[in-house]
Amino acid sequence: MKTKLTELLGIEYPIIQGGMAWVATPKLAAAVSNAGGLGVVGAAAMPPEILREAIRTVKKLTDRPFGVNLIMISPQFDEQVEVVLEEDVPVVTIGAGNPATYIPKFKERGMKVLPVVSSDSLARIVERAGADAVIGEGMECGGHIGDVTTIVLVRKLVDTVKIPVVAAGGIADGRGLAAALVLGADGIQMGTRFIASEECEAHENYKKMVLKASIRDAIVTGANLGHPARVIRNQFARKVRKLEVEDPMKAEEILVGSLRKAFQEGNIAEGSFMAGQSSGLIDSIKPVKLIIEETIKEAVEVLEATCRKYVGRG
Ligand SMILES: Cc1cc2nc3c(=O)[nH]c(=O)nc-3n(C[C@H](O)[C@H](O)[C@H](O)COP(=O)(O)O)c2cc1C
Repeated sequence: MKTKLTELLGIEYPIIQGGMAWVATPKLAAAVSNAGGLGVVGAAAMPPEILREAIRTVKKLTDRPFGVNLIMISPQFDEQVEVVLEEDVPVVTIGAGNPATYIPKFKERGMKVLPVVSSDSLARIVERAGADAVIGEGMECGGHIGDVTTIVLVRKLVDTVKIPVVAAGGIADGRGLAAALVLGADGIQMGTRFIASEECEAHENYKKMVLKASIRDAIVTGANLGHPARVIRNQFARKVRKLEVEDPMKAEEILVGSLRKAFQEGNIAEGSFMAGQSSGLIDSIKPVKLIIEETIKEAVEVLEATCRKYVGRG
């Protein structure tokens, strides 16, 4: 499947794996790149030297293009940027802020830059600053969220910018990919789907939570603290929702390290199991390669069938 995104990134399929804090390890990223998508390491709050090691590990595991995701709220963001520049990472995705002033630095090194946006205004700004594509992330997604749905955001972005648009949030299969392409996107980014993959190194409890969740089980915590995040409903999520109203300082306190506790320990009582609404669409753990191949196959089939049904040709 060739799109402007596959051409831009030199990949086989228009599927990016979301750069997820903790979850997007070198092993997961390399598996996605080896399967023809774009694997992305989630730098989040990694100390710079650990990030350097992670990048070198991916390079050992794949010779295909891969990316690093940076978040501008990281305490060592500037140092992480230096590492990414020094290590010649092919693609960088940047979330949680306006990266306009950083884009030229990456471009000078020949890197591709894909900011994550949740509004058309920010998309316009980053396009002007030289971004190669934008990842439009709707509020259905797992992790930190904006406030516009994927269907509205992507439709708006394709009319707003000339660079390729990648749809993220709520997409977990070929029907989601087909819908994104019909809206005018050039590809998709999936996060939650890849948590339920064999190569994902999350604790088995995390994967089970994704499999068990219904479409209404991925709720928002932290909205009252100014950093809303979508997580799977559990005892801890309920506690955070209560505390963020009654005792916000305490809520902030217990949130520290809670994603790590979910990822490494599968700690149901103290873990934030970040995942999107698409958890309710996922019912099996599969190898990354199969997830990608089935997504492409289903998208092609559903696009053909829809054309036959409504337009009268295949
Ligand atoms: C556990 C988890 C952690 C995430 N961490 C980040 C992050 O550090 N940076 C970022 O840009 N996006 C992050 N995201 C968002 C993903 O990169 C991706 O855009 C999103 O998961 C796509 O929506 P989906 O979950 O519906 O597939 C995270 C998502 C999850 C589920």
